[in-house]
Amino acid sequence: MNENDFIFKSSKLVSGSSSWESPSNIALIKYWGKYKNQLPKNPSISFTLSKSKTITKVRFRPKKKDDINNYSFLFNNSTKQSFHKKIDNFFYEVEKYIPSAKHHFFEIESENTFPHSSGIASSASSMSSLALCLMDFEKKSNPKISKSFFLKKASFLARLGSGSACRSIQGPVVSWGQSEFYKNSSQLFGTPLKKIDKVFKSYQDSILIIDKQEKKVSSSLGHKLMESNPYAENRFFQANKNIDTIKNILETGDVKNFIKIVESEALSLHAMMMISSPSFILMKPNTLSVIDKVIKFRNNGSVPVCYTLDAGSNIHLLYPKKYINKIQTFITNELLEFCQSDEFIHDEVGIGAIII
Ligand code: PMV
Repeated sequence: MNENDFIFKSSKLVSGSSSWESPSNIALIKYWGKYKNQLPKNPSISFTLSKSKTITKVRFRPKKKDDINNYSFLFNNSTKQSFHKKIDNFFYEVEKYIPSAKHHFFEIESENTFPHSSGIASSASSMSSLALCLMDFEKKSNPKISKSFFLKKASFLARLGSGSACRSIQGPVVSWGQSEFYKNSSQLFGTPLKKIDKVFKSYQDSILIIDKQEKKVSSSLGHKLMESNPYAENRFFQANKNIDTIKNILETGDVKNFIKIVESEALSLHAMMMISSPSFILMKPNTLSVIDKVIKFRNNGSVPVCYTLDAGSNIHLLYPKKYINKIQTFITNELLEFCQSDEFIHDEVGIGAIII
């Protein structure tokens, strides 16, 4: 499929509403570096989560003469001016693929199930839930649209808002980016993996909140800095190799090699940040203290837990469901002291967005 396949032209004026809840995701093989319109420089793969979600409700109607803007936006029942630039850009992109959106007004209300300003990025869950609502808007004028196309285009639109958001539409494991090893993979949208061992379908993710502050360097700038990073080509090569390796690991339930590759990916992502020009560090001293504790805990016992990081200081602990009690005790006894306000979020792998 190419970008033009996603253009739907209609002159119909429609009214209606839509509500979706969509989860966040955590990358196992990381996307870092992009070109053009949020196209990834390397393929990535992620676990779709289930409890860290955004719920978005959209009411749409034909635009009236006195509507200055084409949307209103409430986050947790209050106006959020700081989100407007991102939503403006998103609508600008969406209108290329659903031109009739220009002639409509969208009343958007969003809320997160995880605490706002917990340091957990909400762009994946918020952009994917909004993209799904906009697909319901398209469906009003295009009722014959197939379920499979609906989901692909929702992922395509979500990507235009925030790259990794395209991996939040479905679950439990989704790849994004062209790879010879993954059938049906695409640069344009996320594709759920068909064959996954059951151990990974119920994998747990305990998110340790190390620092709640907004990160000092945005993901957009981080991606941009990859353009001049002298190690970028090697990183893209490594990610492609890891995408190949992890396929078999996920299919066979090879937890031991899963740990090796996932931790290496987390550190490689942060190594890219440290080697960018200008360089930056998003990990905090407590991030390293937790990593050290996790490695010792794993080596001393028989619990196959590993850590990963997104573009921030918080730690995601990934482990099979049967170890949940041991890990909760470990967190309480040894890790909470490194978390801001003793906070962590308990999440697990999920199936993707659902309509409300
Ligand atoms: O989707 P963005 O532009 O916020 O970038 C996400 C980048 C990482 O979270 C660091 C990695 C990933 O693949 O999700």
